[in-house]
Amino acid sequence: MATTMTADIARVHGARRLRGTVRVPGDKSLSHRSLLFNALATGEARVRGFLDGADCRATLAALRAMGVAITEEGDTLLVRGAGPDGLREPENVLDCANSGTTTRLLLGILSGQPFAAALTGDGSLRRRPMGRVTEPLSRMGARFLGRADDTLLPLAVRGGGLHGIEYALPVASAQVKSALLLAALFADSPTTLTGRTDSRDHTERMLRAMGADVRKRGGAITLTPGSPLVARDVEVPGDISSAAFWLVAGTAHPDAEITVTNVGVNPSRTGILDMLRMMGADIAVTNEREVSGEPVADLTARSSRLLGAEIGGDLVPRGIDELVVLAVAASVAEGTTTVRDAAELRAKESDRVTATVAGLRRLGVRAEAREDGYTVMGPNALLASDALDSHDDHRLAMTWGIAALLAPDGEATAIRDASAVDVSYPGFWATLEGLRD
Ligand code: S3P
Repeated sequence: MATTMTADIARVHGARRLRGTVRVPGDKSLSHRSLLFNALATGEARVRGFLDGADCRATLAALRAMGVAITEEGDTLLVRGAGPDGLREPENVLDCANSGTTTRLLLGILSGQPFAAALTGDGSLRRRPMGRVTEPLSRMGARFLGRADDTLLPLAVRGGGLHGIEYALPVASAQVKSALLLAALFADSPTTLTGRTDSRDHTERMLRAMGADVRKRGGAITLTPGSPLVARDVEVPGDISSAAFWLVAGTAHPDAEITVTNVGVNPSRTGILDMLRMMGADIAVTNEREVSGEPVADLTARSSRLLGAEIGGDLVPRGIDELVVLAVAASVAEGTTTVRDAAELRAKESDRVTATVAGLRRLGVRAEAREDGYTVMGPNALLASDALDSHDDHRLAMTWGIAALLAPDGEATAIRDASAVDVSYPGFWATLEGLRD
């Protein structure tokens, strides 16, 4: 039976069998970066496979508001680089919508510009911590004015006159790391980042490919300014964070085989593969290749006997966005799954610890919140629910869609704020229906 949508509620029925091959939309992190970095470069670049979701649209609109010429031909964007001094002061407040990546990376770039700009976003984004970027960017010389001692949106920034810094990253956040590396491009001396540099490394790879002097020694990353960026075409692979929903569906459902083609498998993003495999999942990685400096592969997930696992340490930054849907796999797994070292989950588009545990309980799952993660006691037979809340968080909405497929055959689960999926995965509900066999 098909998913039906009314008043932003998706009704998804338990599935008897799941079969199919899907392509997921372009990687969100790479889509943002391919626009932002090419906008600062000299020359023109084509970005193919760009994620046409609300988050990346916010980045696109902000760059246009600063005078960057970007034209669209289907899923290919043509970016005319404005060059290192080419951004214009925006005439209005930049709306970052729901996107933390847009906000934090833009704050880094704006810190280097000789003009003032203001940023805001939706209710969720206005609650998210920005002090983690405004504090070190202030040390570089940027000036901020905003709520809660310049730590919450709306924020105004006046950039320019930056100095390089040495800074130990206190959280493993690619958004913070990227904001500082982008500001470092505009500083008068090198910047070195130490501490938690172990987050996704797309920024380091792409900036280096565009000619920036970014070196990694041990855990330290040094950017030496002075090498102007040269525009570079990017072929954006599918987003492993979107593929994760089908990997969980494919391994946790008792009669499933799902292949996701053309998925980015950068080692700093493949924590979900390691976590599911630790739980006994059968996932084949085939057709490995490199595209635009990033590893890419096809992934096939088959029904598996899943076991509980202890998840923590460096697996967490390598799979932070996937820890929500992982809870569905943990629900059907035999034994206890504990996710620790993941307090960052509480600072995402929603408090994902509280929201995940509350939703699981509505599905009859034994789950407990931890300060730094959650515990799920399995195995549980998932029930259908007439009221699952997404809290307007795209990854929660999709997680409940996957849980709904595991409910008894034909029984409907209702998921509120279903269109939240458009932030990172427009077309998610139609793809889900296409996998029924
Ligand atoms: C992202 C980094 C991560 C991730 C987000 C995208 C990025 O956030 O959760 O979806 O593109 O840099 P943090 O840097 O806050 O961990």
